[in-house]
This record gives sequence, structure tokens and C-alpha cells, in this order.
Amino acid sequence: MCWRQNRKKSCRFRPRRGPERKFVTDEIIPPRNVRHVAIIMDGNGRWATRRGLPRLVGHRKGAERVREIVDICPDIGVKYLTLYAFSTENWKRAEAEVAGLMSLFRRYILREAKRLHENRVRVRFIGDRARLDQKLIALMAQLEEKTAKNEHLNLTIALNYGGRDELTRAVRVLAEDTASGRVAPEDITEESLGFYLDTRYLPDPDLIIRTSGEQRVSNFLLWQSAYAEYEFTPTLWPDFTARAFADVVLGASTRERRFGSAAG
Ligand code: IPE
Ligand code: IPE
Ligand code: MG
Repeated sequence: MCWRQNRKKSCRFRPRRGPERKFVTDEIIPPRNVRHVAIIMDGNGRWATRRGLPRLVGHRKGAERVREIVDICPDIGVKYLTLYAFSTENWKRAEAEVAGLMSLFRRYILREAKRLHENRVRVRFIGDRARLDQKLIALMAQLEEKTAKNEHLNLTIALNYGGRDELTRAVRVLAEDTASGRVAPEDITEESLGFYLDTRYLPDPDLIIRTSGEQRVSNFLLWQSAYAEYEFTPTLWPDFTARAFADVVLGASTRERRFGSAAG
């Protein structure tokens, strides 16, 4: 089925050209079934290395990509966008790369806060903040607070996030609540456990995209991805355009999801 329903010309995404480069919602009938897209933004390092540049240049390019992907989401029916920016395992990298990434996150927030707010994007962070520096933690909290009432798009940034770490932290709090008698063991259900996760406010992802050709999950949304569709693209993250993103999302909207029921 074509996502540009009733249009014979083409099924591909076509942004309007021109100075303001607006995406025309009235030309697109956004699908309703891919509302939450999560992305493992991978390949920044290789993008830079292939050009003989330092890895941090790739990370900078990668951060620039985020803007146009965020911008297009509402036009293609995506209400929740979750971006994997830094994993609990990424601390294993060289000190200079980690420091460069942390400074990039600070600069991203400072540079994009106003624009995100004007575009009515609500920003939230998931992951363990305890290991992040105080300045970054404060900027994250300010951005969450500033954008708290926005409803156009829900952007979640996973920073020092790991699915196992999230589950471990959740179970620790749940164990405390059980020990203190606030929660009875028989009240622990899939739904109630979900409320102990960082993602308690999010619906499960419908689609998880990973760029750069790697076909693994790397500790991303382990609990939440139970029935997510996956899309792996060889494109490196800094080369992943809004058009490519829209094509992947709209392509995924035609897949049949069965959630365990019989095919047919
Ligand atoms: C993803 O790009 C960004 C982060 C993990 C922070 P990489 O830095 O993993 O890029 P590659 O995989 O080395 O090319
Ligand atoms: C996953 O990418 C983490 C992010 C994109 C933030 P990695 O590059 O860290 O994953 P591995 O090491 O290839 O599994
Ligand atoms: Mg990588």
C-alpha cells in the first residue's frame, strides 16, 4: 500500500523545494500506525574516519542531522521520537571522545532549546543521570521543564542509557517498595513494572531504526521493544537524511504486525 494514498505519481517522500523548505502535510496522508520511532544513531565514527577526520567531527555532523529528523516527524505522523545518544557502555571509549561527546550534548541543548520550544517539542531524557556532570544535568532538567507543556512532538533522548541498567534500577526501587509494604508481590504485573522504567510516559516503540549496517540492539529499549519492527540501514548516521527517514517510516507503516496472533 502506498503511504501517499490515492496518489499515482510516486510513493516516495518528496519535500517541497524552496527557501523555507516546508514539508507539506496536505500532500501527505500520514499513516496512523507508526507513532513511536526509536533510532540507534550509529556510524558517526566511521563517517569521520573514512574522510580522514577525527571521530568527534562525525559526532558533530551526527548532531546536526537530528534537527531535520525532528522537524519532519509531525509531517509523517510520528508523535514520539526516541534517540539513542550515549549508552551505558560508551564510557569505555577514549577519554577525549567521551569528553567531546559530553560537551556536544551541552552545546546541543544550549543551541537547540529555543527552537525546540518554538516548535512545541517536548523533550525528556532517559538513562541514569548520576554519572553525568552537574552542568549537563542542570541543562537537561531546564530543557525538560521549559518544554513540559509542549505537545507537537515528544522527543526522548537516551543519554547514559542501557536497557539492562534501566531494568536493574527499576527492580531496585520495586524491591524497596515491596520490602516496605507499599507494593504487594501479587500486584507486580507487566503494566505496573512498566511504571518503574524510565520510559513510563512512553508507548512502546512501533519501529526501531539502526543506521550504519550493524544489526544488533546494543542494550536499547530491551523491555519496550518486545513487538517493535526493526529496520537496519547501511547508511551512516551523518548521511541519514529526513527523506531517507521518512521513506523508512512510511515503508514500515505497511508491515503487518500480529502481536502473537495467527497470520492470515
Ligand atoms: C554512534 O556512532 C554515536 C555514539 C555511540 C555516541 P559511533 O561513534 O558508534 O560510530 P561508529 O560505530 O564508531 O562508526
Ligand atoms: C549504540 O552504538 C549506542 C548509540 C548509538 C548511542 P554503539 O556503537 O555504542 O554500539 P556497539 O558497540 O556497536 O554495539
Ligand atoms: Mg557505533
